[in-house]
Amino acid sequence: MTEHLTHVTHPLVQHKLTLMRQQDTSTAVFRQLLREISQLLAYEVTRELPMTTKRIDTPLEPMDAPTLDGKKLALVSILRAGNGLLDGILELIPSARVGFVGLYRDEETLQPVQYYFKVPTEMEDRLVIAVDPMLATGNSSVAAIDLLKKSGAKNIRFLCLLAAPEGIARMKEAHPDVPIVTAAVDSHLNENGYIVPGLGDAGDRMFGTK
Ligand code: URA
Repeated sequence: MTEHLTHVTHPLVQHKLTLMRQQDTSTAVFRQLLREISQLLAYEVTRELPMTTKRIDTPLEPMDAPTLDGKKLALVSILRAGNGLLDGILELIPSARVGFVGLYRDEETLQPVQYYFKVPTEMEDRLVIAVDPMLATGNSSVAAIDLLKKSGAKNIRFLCLLAAPEGIARMKEAHPDVPIVTAAVDSHLNENGYIVPGLGDAGDRMFGTK
């Protein structure tokens, strides 16, 4: 990917996102929409995966058919909201390896605090797709990418649902080599670090917590 930011404007993505934003959308419907939208976003973020060919036999004749090249890609969920994107993408790419980065946001400083980190081996040879629905301040995203780079990852993409201009700028400054794919760029962050107009707390909305 050459662009630092890819805004996925596909009508299905935009329609589903509007349903997700609405405050009266139930937890069950929110989760289902997130699953569906994650697959559409995954289509975009994997658009330029390296390909090779392999010799196969169709019922009619042999052919050199396209197939994915290289090591299995790694999906890394930034807990806990990342799991909502992860599930749908894994349905589409079932052989992907999976990692988790546990960061919570200190509600006062808005700074990320790490509590879990587990990723696949040979990160340096994989395309790594880090997933988190909300790119808000960018603090936790930048911290997660720092950790992934420390684990050896060199080819990283960041997939989110909503991004704030502040988070995009912070990511671009800290990790200009990490392309971002998002379904929307919203107006701004409020004083509590929430994306406006946004959709509220993505984790609470998908897990039914408060
Ligand atoms: N995390 C969320 O879940 N929502 C926001 O608006 C910002 C960060």
